Amino acid sequence: MSIAALLGACSSSKKIETRYSKEPSVQELFQGSAPAYPAVKFAHMSDLHVFDKTLGVDTPDFQEYLRHDRKMLKESEEIIQAMFAGIQKQKVNFLILSGDLTKDGERHNHEYLAAMLKKIEAAGTPVYVIPGNHDLRNGDAFKFTQTGRERIPSVELSEFAEIYNDFGYSTALARDPNSLSYVAEPAPGLLLLALDSTKAKQNDLKKHPITYGHFTKETMAWIEEQLILARRNGKPMVAMMHHGIIDHYTANKKYYGEYLVDNNDPIAEVFAKYGVRVVFTGHYHAQDITLRKFDHIAHNPVLYDIETGSPVTYPSPYRIYEIKDNTLYVTSHRVQSIPSQKDFQKFAHQFVLDGTKVMAKDVMAGYNVSAKDQDYLAPLVAVAYVAHLAGDEDASKKPPIDKKKLGFMGSMVYDNRKPLIDSWWEDLSPADNELVIDLK
Ligand SMILES: [Fe+2]
Ligand SMILES: [Fe+2]
Repeated sequence: MSIAALLGACSSSKKIETRYSKEPSVQELFQGSAPAYPAVKFAHMSDLHVFDKTLGVDTPDFQEYLRHDRKMLKESEEIIQAMFAGIQKQKVNFLILSGDLTKDGERHNHEYLAAMLKKIEAAGTPVYVIPGNHDLRNGDAFKFTQTGRERIPSVELSEFAEIYNDFGYSTALARDPNSLSYVAEPAPGLLLLALDSTKAKQNDLKKHPITYGHFTKETMAWIEEQLILARRNGKPMVAMMHHGIIDHYTANKKYYGEYLVDNNDPIAEVFAKYGVRVVFTGHYHAQDITLRKFDHIAHNPVLYDIETGSPVTYPSPYRIYEIKDNTLYVTSHRVQSIPSQKDFQKFAHQFVLDGTKVMAKDVMAGYNVSAKDQDYLAPLVAVAYVAHLAGDEDASKKPPIDKKKLGFMGSMVYDNRKPLIDSWWEDLSPADNELVIDLK
């Protein structure tokens, strides 16, 4: 029986209300063999942050904005188009986009992207989206002019689902009534649990959007219900969400906890319990895969968090996934050239190094670190961060830091940030760019 049949009539409200008279135990669900994965090939992009140049890129306020947020926004449309072209050559069955679709949730940019996606779908690649923390009810939605910036409309949750109706919502088998989460069947026999991990309902439309992510207890219950349904129907399920679910480096939670969904441990546990093996994530703009083992769960599951970087941040990667014989083959690809930058990788690398140095210096200046110490530390911070963004970090390339060269405040700030810098260089298992995962 298909999930749609099990859920009953096709109105989404009816589907959502489905409950079981007796909830099956996990043991009951795991009796018999695990569901087999169909042979399928698909692509993953995250954090597109599209920005239509007509909203004003060559303006003083936009340049000032970029000083604090070094994304290749001016080039975003060109990079995304180059990525789409690369993906279409791969002849994938579908494409997933794990949130932060726009610079800052501008209705204009959502519609701009949806028009691009329509062409991708028309050419034979269905697309499935979810929102990220920048996409909804965002107080930073502006257009830029020569004399300043002007607030422009962002989108409410219902508007997001309307704009992306053709990209997941209209064909959803089930939708969560409390968020923009849904379940789709992007290829026969494979279910996609597409989760809205944002806190968008709590955003203040006059302020920055909330970077943290969470799942309410109602959405947690809905997720568990969908996992049970998938299991009962004998269909394997993969998940995608914007926020990370497993720490991507040792200091992740301590320094950048807002990049993991708040309740990441319980949700990871629920995924593991019901046999989800892989979660596709984004948010940090880094290429990083981590895993967690659950020895206390009877079938000893392993869960993988496959985080994918962003087109607007070096190295501008996307991933291709191929499932064959219950094995997932992960490959990673980079945009090599765009019309305005023939040697795009070189440009992107320099852009992120320069931008990170400026931002690191701004932070250090706030702590009265001397200009000399800023000049010494900023490049060391930048290369560590960039190593993490690219994935497969090689700690042997970490440049030594000589504390004797630092003054008092430089030394204090370095001591405080040392665990972060060190852990950006440390690659937690497994490999980040090319990987084979046994799904059984
Ligand atoms: Fe992002
Ligand atoms: Fe994000």
